[in-house]
Amino acid sequence: MPDLPEPDLLEQQNPLIVIASNRGPFSFSYDAGSETFDIKRGAGGLVTALSALVERHDVRWIAAALGEDDIHWASANPRPTAVQGISLQLMIPDAEAYRQYYSVIANPLLWFIQHQLWDAPRTPSIMQETWQAWQAGYVQVNQQFASTIAESLPAESDRPILILPQDYHLYLVPHYLREALGDRVIIQPFVHIPWPGIDAWQILPAQMRDALLRGLLAADRVGFQTHKDAFNFVQTCRFYLEDAHSYGSRTSIVYNGHKVEAAAYPISIDVEKVLQIAQETETNLFKRQLLNFLGDNRLILRTDRIEPSKNILRGLEAFRVLLQKYPQHHGSVNMLALLVPSRMEVDEYQTYFQEIMALAGMINAEFSQELWEPVRIIVGDNYVRAIAAMQLYDVLLVNPIADGMNLVAKEGVLVNQRNGMLVLSENAGAFYELGEHALTVSPYDVYGTAEALNTALTMPSAERETRAAPLREIVRAADVRHWFSAQVNDALRASSTQAKQAATSETS
Ligand code: G6P
Repeated sequence: MPDLPEPDLLEQQNPLIVIASNRGPFSFSYDAGSETFDIKRGAGGLVTALSALVERHDVRWIAAALGEDDIHWASANPRPTAVQGISLQLMIPDAEAYRQYYSVIANPLLWFIQHQLWDAPRTPSIMQETWQAWQAGYVQVNQQFASTIAESLPAESDRPILILPQDYHLYLVPHYLREALGDRVIIQPFVHIPWPGIDAWQILPAQMRDALLRGLLAADRVGFQTHKDAFNFVQTCRFYLEDAHSYGSRTSIVYNGHKVEAAAYPISIDVEKVLQIAQETETNLFKRQLLNFLGDNRLILRTDRIEPSKNILRGLEAFRVLLQKYPQHHGSVNMLALLVPSRMEVDEYQTYFQEIMALAGMINAEFSQELWEPVRIIVGDNYVRAIAAMQLYDVLLVNPIADGMNLVAKEGVLVNQRNGMLVLSENAGAFYELGEHALTVSPYDVYGTAEALNTALTMPSAERETRAAPLREIVRAADVRHWFSAQVNDALRASSTQAKQAATSETS
């Protein structure tokens, strides 16, 4: 398995790799007693992918300081500082600018557009506050990211510098980086969330929309989760920007005389690490507790952030329809929802959480009998518990309205021990890799989802195995390190081709 980028390219070119993301790879908590920081490593794929590289290569990570303790650490370490092999720099944004950037523009405005969650007759309304949040929040924090990155770079370097800004928080960063650094850097953002078709972008005022698109078009290549996202991006640029042309290509845009590629790199998981967690003692303890709770009952599992795009309400509705239509499941099936609190500072998320709890209560009130309560919700962030539950499901429900990839689907099919069925939304990026062997549903089709749950619960065991085995293999074969190495290789290959072309044209 090629865990690292192609050795030749990496060794020959020995690039400086800079990752920029809103949330960093570590969070810090200060222990006043020992006057030291506890460091917790995030579970994200990027930090995993990078850990294979950091020993021999120069990797930097620039992120925002998110809480008081992060700020404390950042003040004590104003320059890039080695943390578990990664050279980390946390920039400290102004608190109000950060609120506007994160809680008004990135979440919910951009997130809701890209997951198509707005209820157009009612929301959103772009108000004066939104415009202020755009200028004084999103634009400002993006500028600060770009200048922090630029200042952290060596004044001169004969090695390629590869800058990888991550996700929808940083769409303007390529533009400001190009302004500051010109062509001496390779800029290759990755968009982790869906890129919808042109109509979805009509919600944004032209000035904001064009700035985002031009921001990204200052890059050399933009990475997406699926070919559909990359294609939609090309179409969006062509449609809204008069001076952007694709000349028939589905994967590139020419803008300002500069060709920008749009490429798909489907993200995956750290296969080895997930399998290892699945076997740990703590995981087994959770498994035993879950088995006590379940007894002989079958388990429909979901595990998600508390997030409107995950479609948790329609998932509950589908379970309700299942119990109405197929009473044979009463008393013998449980739906367990492991829900991780997320973005509770954003109003839409709080309301959504309340609605979930209310609906789960209604379903339990309608169907509970004796000691059987059909829906159980456990709120909290516990990855080990989630991995334990994934080993035990008979059905894993992954029904997002839209999702860049959805790693739960990949983790689930990898660790499950019961030949459980995956009920998968056709709007999750994972659909393109796993859809063939899953039971696929439209996220809006509550009735169809209930039918899929019933099909999964009643499927003969031979067919369950025929579906579960290839799913496991697909995930095993695409470790997250491939995702990262493919991006680095493409960037380095393109830059050496360009350098060769420039040299040839100088000599001719
Ligand atoms: C999810 C998305 C990522 C996004 C992240 C931000 O994990 O899949 O694309 O970057 O949320 O989450 P945060 O908790 O930092 O708002």
